[in-house]
Amino acid sequence: MKVSLTGTAETLLATLCARAVDARSPHPLLGDTSAAEVVERLDYDFAKLRVTPATAVGIALRARLFDRWVRAFLADHPESTVLHLGCGLDSRVLRIAPGPGVRWFDVDQPEVAELRARVYPERAGHRVLGASVADEDWLALVPADRPVLVVAEGLAMYLGEEEGPALLRALVRRFPLGGQVVFDSYSRAVVRMSGPLPVLRETGARMRWGVDDPRELPDLVPGLRLVESVKAYETADPGDHRRLPLGLRLRLLLDTRVLARLPVTRRVGHISRFAF
Ligand SMILES: C[S@@+](CC[C@H](N)C(=O)[O-])C[C@H]1O[C@@H](n2cnc3c(N)ncnc32)[C@H](O)[C@@H]1O
Repeated sequence: MKVSLTGTAETLLATLCARAVDARSPHPLLGDTSAAEVVERLDYDFAKLRVTPATAVGIALRARLFDRWVRAFLADHPESTVLHLGCGLDSRVLRIAPGPGVRWFDVDQPEVAELRARVYPERAGHRVLGASVADEDWLALVPADRPVLVVAEGLAMYLGEEEGPALLRALVRRFPLGGQVVFDSYSRAVVRMSGPLPVLRETGARMRWGVDDPRELPDLVPGLRLVESVKAYETADPGDHRRLPLGLRLRLLLDTRVLARLPVTRRVGHISRFAF
């Protein structure tokens, strides 16, 4: 299947490829086998994105944390709505396999939604919406009669500095029964210096919204409360490094024992869970 995405839409191929690399490795941390199958089916030059085994470890650990938070929310709210924003070709809905009381919306830009519909079969209780989340009209398509979980992995940094908080305010306004919002963010310095990253150079995408400290957000979004925040280098479980070959093991130890503690690197990114 030919893929002709550009810009921010094309970046989904890097995270998809990373999950495929993890799934194909002898030591998967996420084990998303459908990512590996989808990569096989797409006619696209994945090599140009230069996804390394170390990147794959980082993306797999991040996705695993998101999945855990989604499962925990759905265990507490078996009747709920999930909005998976900037879903790309992530198979999260298949990994989680939500129960019949869950309405799940995968939302991404129209060209991605169109590709997604060709790649994955339809599922009961699951809908794909093609829209920019920076434009609030799509929210009217989502019923507001249940608690909501909003999940946005690898999306926030591609929104504008005003668009990110505006989206959060629109979500809080739309769902009177409340819910949670889970997303990852990079610091302003990382966003500023991100230009040379191969995924951005090759796709033409640009990171725009940086968040130095997730505790800043409730000031910009009335009603939002930070529940927990995990630093980008702290997503591994204590035993994870033992499952990896030596090179990756050392790399993960460097991340978790050194970069996670150095003042310059420890706050480069966060994965945060908010409630409202
Ligand atoms: C790095 S990819 C992450 C994709 C997916 N979450 C994953 O982890 O594989 C960024 C995604 O955000 C989407 N995106 C960027 N800006 C968007 C917007 N304004 N509205 C909807 N989706 C957007 C892109 O199309 C792309 O699918």
